[in-house]
Amino acid sequence: MAKRTPLIAGNWKMHKTVAESVETAGQLAKMVADARDVEIMIAPAFTALASVSQVIRGSAVGLGAQNLFWEEQGAFTGEVSAPMLVSAGCRYVIIGHSERRQFFGETDETVNRRIGAALHAGLVPVFCIGETESERDAEKTFSVLDKQIQKGLEGFVSEDLSSLVVAYEPVWAIGTGKAATPQQAQEVHAFVRSKIEERFGGAMAESTRILYGGSVKPANVRELMALADVDGALVGGASLDAETFSQLVHFNA
Ligand code: 13P
Repeated sequence: MAKRTPLIAGNWKMHKTVAESVETAGQLAKMVADARDVEIMIAPAFTALASVSQVIRGSAVGLGAQNLFWEEQGAFTGEVSAPMLVSAGCRYVIIGHSERRQFFGETDETVNRRIGAALHAGLVPVFCIGETESERDAEKTFSVLDKQIQKGLEGFVSEDLSSLVVAYEPVWAIGTGKAATPQQAQEVHAFVRSKIEERFGGAMAESTRILYGGSVKPANVRELMALADVDGALVGGASLDAETFSQLVHFNA
């Protein structure tokens, strides 16, 4: 069976003004115009979404947001809803990033609600999971991931989740320069796929893309992308510069 189309996704986190975002996105759109057999996404800050959407229109680069709130509208000061993201040009939304879990009270339950709202609006959820360093040291990696998957996807059936993207981001690898080894990544990705198969069946397990995130760089992207169960990358630091991110997009060139 053909391998799943890889997705190379850039999470810009809390970086770049509107002008800086537009500049980087415009450069990137040109640099990746020749990329084949790869899907590309960037997730700028909320403030830059609408402007970036204009710049990348018609290009190979898709737009994502970094979070959403599950209600569609109402008295929820400071929040942004799924229909608002769609109206700003988004196709993807990152959900449950470890920084949201760590700093903003995100739980498996709120992740679950956000995924539901994304699906309802037709957005592709990029559902983030990952263990901390102390959890790995205590040999709890698989139980932690199992719980995040079960609770995060509770109540859904495979038909709901046909667009789902999972991102495995070991917390100890994020922003540290210490990526998972190919062996560590493949072991976890195969485990995640087996859990999806248990819950949702073989067809969904085969078609679901599982991205790796955590210190992905031009120097290690090829060996990670060559792994059987790695279907793309969720990139932080190395996505901020158009030239560097373009190198990641061209991993198979
Ligand atoms: P880095 O690529 O900077 O390690 O960040 C990974 C990440 O958190 C992407 O969501």
